Amino acid sequence: MGSQEKKRFIAANWKMHSKPSEALALAFELTDGLEDTNTEVVICAPFTHLDRLNSLKSKGIILGAQNCHFADKGAYTGEISATMLSDLGCQYVIIGHSERRNLDTAESIPLRIEQAIAAGLKVIFCCGEPLHYRKVHQEWEFVLSQLNHDFDKIEASHFPKIVIAYEPIWAIGTGLTASPQQAQEMHKNIRKWAENKFGILDAMQLRILYGGSVKASNSMELAAMHDIDGVLVGGASLIPIEFRGIIRAFS
Ligand code: PGA
Repeated sequence: MGSQEKKRFIAANWKMHSKPSEALALAFELTDGLEDTNTEVVICAPFTHLDRLNSLKSKGIILGAQNCHFADKGAYTGEISATMLSDLGCQYVIIGHSERRNLDTAESIPLRIEQAIAAGLKVIFCCGEPLHYRKVHQEWEFVLSQLNHDFDKIEASHFPKIVIAYEPIWAIGTGLTASPQQAQEMHKNIRKWAENKFGILDAMQLRILYGGSVKASNSMELAAMHDIDGVLVGGASLIPIEFRGIIRAFS
């Protein structure tokens, strides 16, 4: 196994916000002065923005997308393939975000993961429970069923190309955050699951992100948790002072 240091990972998920013409200036502002932090910073922008963000590489910022199709090519009007994303300079793609799981079939998620990896991309895989499951203390059972389903056919050699983001649905865009202890508990379970399925080395190297109303003000205590290796940030990733604060907390 490689002995590279596991870098902490901060991903921005811009969702359907901002215009292509504003994208580069926003990305520079979000990361201004933070080029030499020892973190991996990924900006997952809308498809329409990606070409304009290609020059981010020169600043050490990594480009990502928010979804890809489950086929490599074909008659799928309006869709975007992993190969297209890779050709545009993307290195990562988010798969299985809860806002996409409402629109895509569960069966398509493993196929999307495999397409992404076949195209040379790495994957930010999202999982997380709805509020009802947390209320009845079944949050781990819910997440475990997502992991078991979505990774059932994933080749073991592909696992190092995957980052897992735990995003409790009740915390996304709501201002509610899982407590650092709740997130840590879930992350520990996810790492244990990864160890059982893929072995201890891959489990140790796995980056597990927390997502759900992450802000500069709550990122310090999340960053202090043993199994929280980074964050996936929605709303606060559009606000430079917030996003820079989050990167600093994980540096
Ligand atoms: P939020 O979104 O930070 O706005 O809660 C997180 C996400 O959906 O990835």
